[in-house]
Amino acid sequence: MITDQEFQRIVMYVKSKSGINLSEKKVLVQGRLDNYMQRKGYSSYHEFMDLVEKFPAGPEAEDLMNALTTNHTYFWREHEQFLFLKQEVFPELKRYTEHTRDWRIWCAASSTGEEPYTLAMLCMDFLGLEMSQWDTTILATDIDTKVLETAVRGVYSKNSVEQLPQQYVRRFFRPVSGEQYQVKDELKKQVLFRRFNLMHQLPFRKPLHVVFIRNVMIYFDEPTKEKLLESIYEKMAPGGYLFIGSTESISQSNTKFRYVRPSIYRK
Ligand SMILES: C[S@@+](CC[C@H](N)C(=O)[O-])C[C@H]1O[C@@H](n2cnc3c(N)ncnc32)[C@H](O)[C@@H]1O
Repeated sequence: MITDQEFQRIVMYVKSKSGINLSEKKVLVQGRLDNYMQRKGYSSYHEFMDLVEKFPAGPEAEDLMNALTTNHTYFWREHEQFLFLKQEVFPELKRYTEHTRDWRIWCAASSTGEEPYTLAMLCMDFLGLEMSQWDTTILATDIDTKVLETAVRGVYSKNSVEQLPQQYVRRFFRPVSGEQYQVKDELKKQVLFRRFNLMHQLPFRKPLHVVFIRNVMIYFDEPTKEKLLESIYEKMAPGGYLFIGSTESISQSNTKFRYVRPSIYRK
């Protein structure tokens, strides 16, 4: 059983490290941590949190963050955005980067990889035979080390892969044992997975052309979200496109991003 004081301690820690606001999520916190606490033999949440706070880069702190993130994602999610990207954004980006042939795409909360792999499929599909002349490597980041491991493995169930257009399944996956599909190497090498916490300073030196940051800011409070959007804005190329989740929005009075259509903005 978690006490109110222990719960508050976890809420404050997680908010300060990851921006995730769990203040109304006591049942979720307990549901996700109880088993772990028992398995590891901690006598109380305080004992566990003492370790987490003493070693913020240690395994306990990592386990805590992995347990408390919500990683739900699926292939072809909010697919109108992918179609817009391929039909409207890519042709323009191709003209704009004719001299550098360097596309800078960041998938900022990539979870188990379905979203960045889809972005890579769209790049390969769009550029076709010209693909080898362009650098379109997608940077995919997440705070959760477990989901990054799954993403790097690139093995998905038949059901989840089948949400993609059939020609993509045939071209970019190979069936492996037990009704599973593996991302082919040619696609895998188009995506670079890294652990990155959105609360840290953004590491980009060259301007970003496209940023996908979908279904993660819903876990942050308004000031955290605004601050993050401001730093993303600073790192984007003029005219760069920002994609957020379809249930999310950006208040126009608090942002420099220009509204394009629901959940799509531009610098
Ligand atoms: C619901 S998933 C969204 C996945 C995908 N973008 C989509 O829309 O389907 C949210 C992801 O955000 C990640 N996340 C939460 N807080 C984060 C932070 N501070 N830094 C980086 N990633 C974070 C979680 O680990 C989780 O994988």
